[in-house]
Amino acid sequence: MFCTRWCTLLTVALVMLLVEAAPSAFPSSGNGLWYTSPADADAWSSEWLPIGNGYIAATIPGGTVQETMHVNIESLWWGGPMQDPSYNGGNQLPSQQAAMAQDMQMYRQSIFESPNGTIDNIEDLMTDAGAYGSYSTAGVFLTTLNSTDTVSNYFRWLDLDAAVAHTQWTDESGNSYFREQFCSHPAEACVQYVNSTGILPSVTYALSVTQESGLPVPNVTCFDNSTLMVRGLVNDPGMTYEVLARVLASGNASVACTPSGSNATLTVNGAQEAWLMWIAGTNYDMYAGNSASGFSFAGPDPHDALTALLTTVAAESISYEQLLAAHISDYTALMSPFSLDLGQTPDLSTPTDQLEAAYQTNVGNPYFEWVLFNYGRYLLASSARGTLPPNLQGKWVETWSTIWGSDSNINIQMNHWFAEMTNMDVVLPLFDYIENTWAPRGETTAQILYNISRGWVTHDEIFGHTGMKLEGNSAQWADYPVMIHVWDHYDYTGNKTWFQQQGWPLLKGVAEFHLDKLIPDLHFNDSTLVTAPCNSPEQVPITFGCAHAQQLIWQLFNAIEKGYEASGDTDTAFLEEVQAKRAQMDKGIHIGSWEWKVDMDSPNDTHRHLSHLIGLYPGYAITSYDPSIQNGSSTNYTKNDVLTAAETSLYHRGNGTGPDADAGWEKAWRAACWAQLANASEFYFELSYTIERNIAPNLFSVYAPGSGPDGIFQIDANFGYPAALLNGLLQAPDVASYSIPLVVTVLPALPSVWPSGSIKGARIRGGMTLDLEWTGGKPTSVNIQVDEDITARPVEIVYGGDVVASFTTSGGMTKSITFS
Ligand SMILES: *[C@@H]1O[C@H](CO)[C@@H](O)[C@H](O)[C@H]1NC(C)=O
Ligand SMILES: *[C@@H]1O[C@H](CO)[C@@H](O)[C@H](O)[C@H]1NC(C)=O
Ligand SMILES: *[C@@H]1O[C@H](CO)[C@@H](O)[C@H](O)[C@H]1NC(C)=O
Ligand SMILES: *[C@@H]1O[C@H](CO)[C@@H](O)[C@H](O)[C@H]1NC(C)=O
Ligand SMILES: *[C@@H]1O[C@H](CO)[C@@H](O)[C@H](O)[C@H]1NC(C)=O
Ligand SMILES: *[C@@H]1O[C@H](CO)[C@@H](O)[C@H](O)[C@H]1NC(C)=O
Ligand SMILES: *[C@@H]1O[C@H](CO)[C@@H](O)[C@H](O)[C@H]1NC(C)=O
Ligand SMILES: *[C@@H]1O[C@H](CO)[C@@H](O)[C@H](O)[C@H]1NC(C)=O
Ligand SMILES: *[C@@H]1O[C@H](CO)[C@@H](O)[C@H](O)[C@H]1NC(C)=O
Ligand SMILES: *[C@@H]1O[C@H](CO)[C@@H](O)[C@H](O)[C@H]1NC(C)=O
Ligand SMILES: *[C@@H]1O[C@H](CO)[C@@H](O)[C@H](O)[C@H]1NC(C)=O
Ligand SMILES: *[C@@H]1O[C@H](CO)[C@@H](O)[C@H](O)[C@H]1NC(C)=O
Repeated sequence: MFCTRWCTLLTVALVMLLVEAAPSAFPSSGNGLWYTSPADADAWSSEWLPIGNGYIAATIPGGTVQETMHVNIESLWWGGPMQDPSYNGGNQLPSQQAAMAQDMQMYRQSIFESPNGTIDNIEDLMTDAGAYGSYSTAGVFLTTLNSTDTVSNYFRWLDLDAAVAHTQWTDESGNSYFREQFCSHPAEACVQYVNSTGILPSVTYALSVTQESGLPVPNVTCFDNSTLMVRGLVNDPGMTYEVLARVLASGNASVACTPSGSNATLTVNGAQEAWLMWIAGTNYDMYAGNSASGFSFAGPDPHDALTALLTTVAAESISYEQLLAAHISDYTALMSPFSLDLGQTPDLSTPTDQLEAAYQTNVGNPYFEWVLFNYGRYLLASSARGTLPPNLQGKWVETWSTIWGSDSNINIQMNHWFAEMTNMDVVLPLFDYIENTWAPRGETTAQILYNISRGWVTHDEIFGHTGMKLEGNSAQWADYPVMIHVWDHYDYTGNKTWFQQQGWPLLKGVAEFHLDKLIPDLHFNDSTLVTAPCNSPEQVPITFGCAHAQQLIWQLFNAIEKGYEASGDTDTAFLEEVQAKRAQMDKGIHIGSWEWKVDMDSPNDTHRHLSHLIGLYPGYAITSYDPSIQNGSSTNYTKNDVLTAAETSLYHRGNGTGPDADAGWEKAWRAACWAQLANASEFYFELSYTIERNIAPNLFSVYAPGSGPDGIFQIDANFGYPAALLNGLLQAPDVASYSIPLVVTVLPALPSVWPSGSIKGARIRGGMTLDLEWTGGKPTSVNIQVDEDITARPVEIVYGGDVVASFTTSGGMTKSITFS
């Protein structure tokens, strides 16, 4: 065929277009991330891709002749008793109890007597954070192919349908290579697979720690002729970790392990395909964080458990295809009960980093937003199903130390905001962690610091750091009770067995502490009970009756009443005390003085936290305000008064770019709050602003925009985002008692960018599963299926401010609502 110059240009353009298309194996739904070049070595937090199974995790750049893989083990932390035998969770010594009790009295008196109800510090109560520690990397695997450096036809992508990362390229001699990487939850192993259209060149696997300043160089030896054994200490003295990495290969392959000092390597020659399987562990034991174990958190050396696991999961008899299939079916089973459709059109011609770069606040991109939502669920699935819950880094860290030590004050809760509603069975490690690392030492803290001999309290962390850390009036020590998720798990699942074994004892322990911590307000002398001292999380002043604490305690006391019957507890004196103090306590809602009971708020305080709005989202003290039970002797607000005041306060808190921080999580939280106020435009502004300012090309949320390609990664916005997005589409906030109707609002804050879509399989508290469809910006159908074994409760389905259906649930009931 005769081809003119234009035709040639057209052909060139077509070829270019073809190159700029997602790889053929990329999900046709668009559910994934893809790129046309490897991640930059110096842009870990913004370009590398994460994989994980909860126990172990990795980040990868998608290298070609050399792949670099950062290895993470969920419990690998420095700090704690293994580093410092005198570590005691930041607590005062038992001998201090009498002095602390006196100091506490003195501080309370000073607070109440102070004309403005505040004091500057409570120094005597606080302790140095001690060996608080940080989550740490476990080094880097380098996989080197004896191939050419020049590659073409390069793609890397993360398939969110299958939870598998892929890299493909072609070398100079025309051989194509495929690398697949994933972490299997059933196998408790991560897998790195490579094949080629020809026989593979020799492949070498080695461990490097050179890029990690701080992590001591480990011993890498040959465990057997196809397995590397990495043994290290996170610091000396400190926790021990071990990694076993076995390579398997097919074809006429020869596998060898070459010891070389303490840096052994594995080599595979002549293979058709080769895959490295690695497993890892430490001697941390969450169940040894109690007085019976001397709060040692020390378990056995991980070696025996790992060698046993290696025999079962990395056996020659298990093919790569079987491993992969087991992984995908496990992941799909976890994820598929729920799905979201935003009416998005997949863009298979623009790589993810370009979509991210083009993204604009308020303009949006439904396809990109949908991917980011799914990515949040992927990250939770890949980090939550271990022994420990996901920390501030999820389970992904590049270096030996992180800026906030990966701590878990409010972050750990935001990490789980969307888990129940999107039907993900991943929350139990959170409760095991609270039960085993916070409660035991928290009893000591209650005793010594507060002179309270029942229940427990924590002011943070992994090694049972329960004391008030830091000094002066730094306000890092808020001890607010973190029991929303515990109650919600029972409320969503109705699992009485779990509730009696774990949920109720946790609720009761924290409630008991607060029964004794609440004291009469001797500042206003208004006959209410308040906590003192308190602050708002990360915000001074030190005062009493802080809105955040009061709202949460009130919600906790409601949970005690609602859960009492199912708990099997017969301690009626406890229930009655909860009911009496709940009636008497300050409910933490004062229009005009939002954050604290004293009027200290500045209208221009754009602080990152929305502490006083905890009852708007994720709580319900504001959202479900009930004048008949929440007004006290000095207030008589209507629900509308309270919501209007919340709106005023939210405007004044700014858009989440205050001088104190410019993080993604604060914007996601604001978005969720605006959705709760049914303000679609503010909701979508904050939601999309989160992306524009804080989402990196690898879709990790980074703390401060403009901080360069390796800015601070914090996972909380990745988890806050799906929760906030969902709150614009479907809400069913908690209520104070089972007799109050549960209000299920559909499309409360639907932005115009998502005119049609659907949600399938959302879980609603009360044991319900809900499907929702909408078109033209309006709902078309809602279908509800109620579980068999539930507590009957009144429900109202609301759309556009109107109750469109109301009913009382019964076991097995179905309900279909169509909209005309
Ligand atoms: C500490 O608690 C004990 C037992 O409840 C009580 O007798 C004592 O007065 C308390 N001490 C102070 C200083 O409040
Ligand atoms: C409260 O009043 C005291 C003086 O009584 C003052 O020193 C302090 O700065 C005030 N605190 C605030 C937060 O205004
Ligand atoms: C790499 O390949 C080259 C050329 O095929 C060969 O000469 C060399 O020995 C190989 N090196 C290793 C370490 O296998
Ligand atoms: C290499 O692995 C990929 C992914 O599993 C597979 O699609 C491809 O067929 C394999 N290629 C060869 C030559 O075996
Ligand atoms: C081990 O050897 C590899 C090369 O074979 C090197 O890249 C790596 O840095 C070495 N590791 C250590 C801990 O020295
Ligand atoms: C590994 O070593 C065992 C004995 O230690 C031997 O039987 C086996 O053939 C070796 N395998 C390879 C792949 O060299
Ligand atoms: C590494 O090996 C040396 C020499 O055998 C040993 O003294 C050291 O304790 C080992 N380190 C670790 C972390 O196992
Ligand atoms: C493996 O080696 C044997 C003997 O050298 C040979 O007959 C066979 O074809 C080889 N298989 C492959 C897949 O290369
Ligand atoms: C309920 O909780 C128990 C205890 O945690 C657990 O064994 C059981 O599998 C749960 N039931 C369901 C249906 O999830
Ligand atoms: C708020 O405004 C007041 C006066 O308008 C000013 O003194 C104060 O510094 C401002 N505070 C902040 C946090 O900007
Ligand atoms: C109750 O509300 C009315 C107006 O709605 C107001 O006049 C009255 O002062 C309020 N009472 C209290 C105790 O706040
Ligand atoms: C967010 O707020 C800051 C401070 O008020 C302001 O400078 C900025 O323009 C706002 N961002 C947007 C997108 O409105």
